[in-house]
Amino acid sequence: MKIALGSDHGGFRLKEEIKRLLDSLQLAYEDFGCTCEDSVDYPDYALPVAEKVAAGEFDRGILVCGTGIGMSIAANKIPGVRCALVHDTFSARATREHNDSNILALGERVVGPGLALDIVKVWLETEFQGGRHARRVEKLKQIEARYAGVKQGGSVTN
Ligand code: RB5
Repeated sequence: MKIALGSDHGGFRLKEEIKRLLDSLQLAYEDFGCTCEDSVDYPDYALPVAEKVAAGEFDRGILVCGTGIGMSIAANKIPGVRCALVHDTFSARATREHNDSNILALGERVVGPGLALDIVKVWLETEFQGGRHARRVEKLKQIEARYAGVKQGGSVTN
């Protein structure tokens, strides 16, 4: 499994911890920044990770900011991304089993490092269950296709 990583300054330290975890699990990853705790803009770091995952160049992505919210909003703008903002291990498991989430967003200012690393482990280990959940994920893709190319504030009529 190949994992794309990204953070802003608010998530930088947790991203470093996640890299140590991935090293210990011998999982391949690439870090798309940021590279220090200087203030940056989270969409700039969500975008490359989301694009690489959506294109199939990476199997999964992990994004960290202060809350995880900005990263998850940004990543979910990219068609093909199902980014889940998770702060507990129950949701980490459920979002893989039910939503087939391909990007995990975490908030460094919300969860402690111990819990965050447990969340990452559970999320990486859990398989999508398919079945009725596949039908629902298919409906997410239909929504995406329906709004493809529609300008901000626009709507579709059929
Ligand atoms: C940065 O201060 C903070 O706004 C960012 O890390 C994130 O929490 C945004 O959603």
